[in-house]
Amino acid sequence: MKVATVVGTRPQFVKAAVVSRALRERHREILIHTGQHYDINMSGVFFAGLDIPAPDYCLNAGSGAPGRQLAGMLGGLESVFDREKPDIVLVYGDSRSTLAAALAASKAGVPLAHVEAGLRSHRQSMPEEFNRIVTDHLSSILFCPSETAVRNLEQEGFTGIINRGRLVSIEEVPDRPACPQVVNVGDVMVDVLLEYAGKERCPVLPAGKQFWQRGKYLLATVHRAENTDNKERLAAILESFAEAGEKVVFPVHPRTAKKIVEFGLTGYLRHHRIDAIEPVGYLEMLCLIKNARMVLTDSGGVQKEAFILKVPCITLREETEWVETVERGCNVLVGCAPELIRRALATAPACDWSGNPYGRGDASRLIARVLEGFICRG
Ligand code: UD1
Ligand code: UDP
Repeated sequence: MKVATVVGTRPQFVKAAVVSRALRERHREILIHTGQHYDINMSGVFFAGLDIPAPDYCLNAGSGAPGRQLAGMLGGLESVFDREKPDIVLVYGDSRSTLAAALAASKAGVPLAHVEAGLRSHRQSMPEEFNRIVTDHLSSILFCPSETAVRNLEQEGFTGIINRGRLVSIEEVPDRPACPQVVNVGDVMVDVLLEYAGKERCPVLPAGKQFWQRGKYLLATVHRAENTDNKERLAAILESFAEAGEKVVFPVHPRTAKKIVEFGLTGYLRHHRIDAIEPVGYLEMLCLIKNARMVLTDSGGVQKEAFILKVPCITLREETEWVETVERGCNVLVGCAPELIRRALATAPACDWSGNPYGRGDASRLIARVLEGFICRG
């Protein structure tokens, strides 16, 4: 089967690192990079550091107004699909690149497979919520990372649920499943973590910065539009870092860096307790998460990585798609409220780390195997 995989953002490169490898054992894969993320430390560093195959096509969508960026991606994808005639298009997550590929596949009549299907924040104003709902409803195969994700789809009327939504094993994958099909394969990010566990690399520090001792610093990331695009929210978050009373290591996403400058908040980047650094590669990020006392983040991926690496997490959002981490007491939702952040930092979490609701780390192999039996047409 010829699979056209579309990626464009940092977390999608991380996921493709393991899924592309598994796909290529059973299928022919064409890898398309939309160019949504393009800085070396947002894109190139992942392809090099995680041995991701070089993209067959780069669409160079770049940044820009959302509509214009989407239109650019759609045009590029249309040409590639027309030329390559894939049997299926595979997308990850909920970014604008995901939406573009879902729309382009539908227009081209090519069936769509969605990895990380069924996640919901139930916040309609979140751009990612729109992208994931549209993508799910255009998909023929929905690869869910958890039982919660399957239940969300069930509530939206999806049928064709394999194994009643429970995690499947290779032996349980049906040869000719119904279509559309919903299958809980677990989260591919568990596969990535297992693959790279033990290979993490602590980052080279900028001159003048000392290495952060294990358990003696907080790791922070912020990039969600709801936090970066609102001056008061962003200032409240940065103020809470400054007030935390311990070192905060802060790899700054380019979106956030731009907004910090625009809002006149650069003083925080020079604060003696905040070590603001450029975004780091995945192996460096694993080192930073693993050794942190706690993680403060609004990232979906980082919430899960903290959970799997058994580092308590404080989520700078009012809701999360990864509800299992909160239910187990390993993650606390604080939004941008300074008092809640203070309290969360001072409270030793009573976390139940047992088991893993996100699968066994064989999601990529399962995805490749399910696609083998795929017979639907768009
Ligand atoms: C995107 C996704 C978000 C995901 C995040 C992962 C959408 C709508 N959002 O958010 O779901 O969690 O990626 O990191 O797709 N920029 C650069 N260099 C780059 C990339 C971006 O300078 O390599 C700057 C540009 O000014 C750009 C801004 O960051 O306008 C935002 O980038 P964009 O790709 O639109 O969204 P993200 O915030 O990265
Ligand atoms: N990440 C990274 N370097 C960084 C910040 C994040 O390698 O400086 C990794 C992180 O470990 C995770 C992924 O990027 O694997 C998450 O991406 P991001 O937070 O940008 O997006 P989200 O998961 O929120 O969509």
